[in-house]
Amino acid sequence: MKKWNVVAVKAAKGVEKLGCCTAYDAAFASLADSAGVPIILVGDSMGMTTLGYETTLPVEMTETLSATAAVARAVKDALVVADLPFGSYQCGDDEAMKNAVSCLKRGADAVKLEGATERILSLISRMTQSGIPVVAHVGMMPQSVNGYGGFKRQGKTREDAAKVFEDAKAVEKAGAFAVTLECIPSELAASITASLKIPTIGIGAGPVCDGQWLVMHDLLGLNEKVPSFVRKYADLANVVRGAFSSYVEEVKSGVFPPAK
Ligand code: KIV
Repeated sequence: MKKWNVVAVKAAKGVEKLGCCTAYDAAFASLADSAGVPIILVGDSMGMTTLGYETTLPVEMTETLSATAAVARAVKDALVVADLPFGSYQCGDDEAMKNAVSCLKRGADAVKLEGATERILSLISRMTQSGIPVVAHVGMMPQSVNGYGGFKRQGKTREDAAKVFEDAKAVEKAGAFAVTLECIPSELAASITASLKIPTIGIGAGPVCDGQWLVMHDLLGLNEKVPSFVRKYADLANVVRGAFSSYVEEVKSGVFPPAK
């Protein structure tokens, strides 16, 4: 199986499309890795998928670090990206650097952070120059949900699209080795993809990106309600519920455990 690193991800642009996903624990990370997923993101979406919050905002750095360590221990070939949670890079550059370093010490190969303000661009430069590869994230940024007034598609007006385009160019210039394009029109994602040298990895951004992210719980059908752009590749919610209910019934009826 191909071993993925930052150089291989950059070299894949225009050659091979990347089907990437999130994982938050060793069991699922190992399965995704052995299936050939090239990049596994320890997403702050864990706040919603595994911790039961309404948004990603409550995720703590300690939670990201233990999930990153679990994923990194299980993965052999995929590139592991730790998603810096809200608050871990907003409260000062030195603290952001320390948190990113902690992710790499737990086994991540790179970190992801959202935005393209002057401050974030200088942080991306500082991280990349310090040996911390960065995946940027522009378009709809879930950590800005309160500013948007909900999870709202971005880049819909001409001005907003121009801003997302400029943001993508700026994060590339700052040193990011890939950029996430979340929930933007597919024509905008296509023109960004054509203009950048680094790979674009889209989620809800149409088919022309260099790769795609899907949240693991959505792609496996563990979440019953999913965004409209998601394709479910399995229906694990029913499989898992069925297994739990068979177990409960068999214990109740004495079929499990068997006498021998
Ligand atoms: O946290 C996450 O799952 C993400 C993806 C949507 C890219 O940031």
